[in-house]
Amino acid sequence: MSNHKHIIVSGIQPTGNLHIGNYLGAVKNWVDLQNSGKYEMYIFIADLHSLSGKMTPDELRAQTRTTAAELLAAGIDPKKTTFYFQSRIAGHAELAWILNCLTPMSELERMTQYKDKTAQLKMSTAGLFTYPILQAADILMYKGEMVPVGQDQIQHVELTRDIARWFNKKYGAYFPETKHLLTETPKVMSLLEPNKKMSKSLGADHVIEMADEPGVIEQKIKRAVTATEGGGQAPGVINLLMLLQKFESGLSFPRLSTGESSYERFVKAEKDGTIRYGELKDELAKAIANYFADFRAKRAELLKNPAKLDKIMRDGAAKAQKVADKTMEGVRNLIGL
Ligand code: ADP
Ligand code: TRP
Repeated sequence: MSNHKHIIVSGIQPTGNLHIGNYLGAVKNWVDLQNSGKYEMYIFIADLHSLSGKMTPDELRAQTRTTAAELLAAGIDPKKTTFYFQSRIAGHAELAWILNCLTPMSELERMTQYKDKTAQLKMSTAGLFTYPILQAADILMYKGEMVPVGQDQIQHVELTRDIARWFNKKYGAYFPETKHLLTETPKVMSLLEPNKKMSKSLGADHVIEMADEPGVIEQKIKRAVTATEGGGQAPGVINLLMLLQKFESGLSFPRLSTGESSYERFVKAEKDGTIRYGELKDELAKAIANYFADFRAKRAELLKNPAKLDKIMRDGAAKAQKVADKTMEGVRNLIGL
């Protein structure tokens, strides 16, 4: 039996506070995979990627630190996971250039996130266009075999697999064929427009941040859309019920004396038409607020201690650098540099 541990790589842009869509689609999975002890894990903050957006230097500086604190507070353990800022490993940009030279423009033109972002930002840069190639470099630098992400990132991971194949075909087998890894909830929906993905780009009231205070969570959930148009189960209700199922361990009494869980009770009530959305919302707000109580405390503690945070990130980068140096040495040999 080989004792090769499968390699997992994933990252997130420091473009805002983490929300429960990020958590259920990606971050919780990272922590669970890490704690299983079965994988070699690399998790990074994609600060270079966020230069393709609109943040100012001060915003970027503050938010990279906050995102690092949030991931640590959520359970990323730097003893078990190599955890670092992407920009500290210069090889990511170098490998991206090399992969740029292998990737047809037509493949990048198909990327839906590129089309959405250029429409949203009303501009297009070469950075936005080649964004998925930098993402492929992030993954292949550590020979990532599995990439745990939400549904919207599948296309980028598929392109990474194609790029690895093009490289291997031209220069000889070197990179693995990367696969994406989804959770049971790869697409959490917006509170206000439940036919769209919950995303910070829609606005603060569409998302629940993991760091939101209980009062804020309550207000946001109160305003969440539940009404159905044209019969059938309303997407807003499906989303709220799913959230209750995922966060009900935050309730003081998740089970009734009958053994039925709070989630099961509301699903039943929804089926027989006796559901009260106000009650569902109160219960859900309590569950989410309690679920993240520990997270909020740890996050605040870490943000009070920037020197400790900086040391964690420096140590993580040193570990990542060793692996990146080895990969780049192999790449340079293969391609003739
Ligand atoms: P946002 O759309 O809020 O800017 P990001 O693009 O930074 O979020 O996403 C970071 C990670 O979280 C990615 O793996 C992404 O697929 C996942 N993710 C983002 N939004 C959701 C969502 N609503 N449901 C599930 N996963 C999500
Ligand atoms: N593009 C990803 C997102 O918007 C972030 C990201 C950058 C990433 N590089 C990555 C995710 C490598 C997984 C692997 O969420």
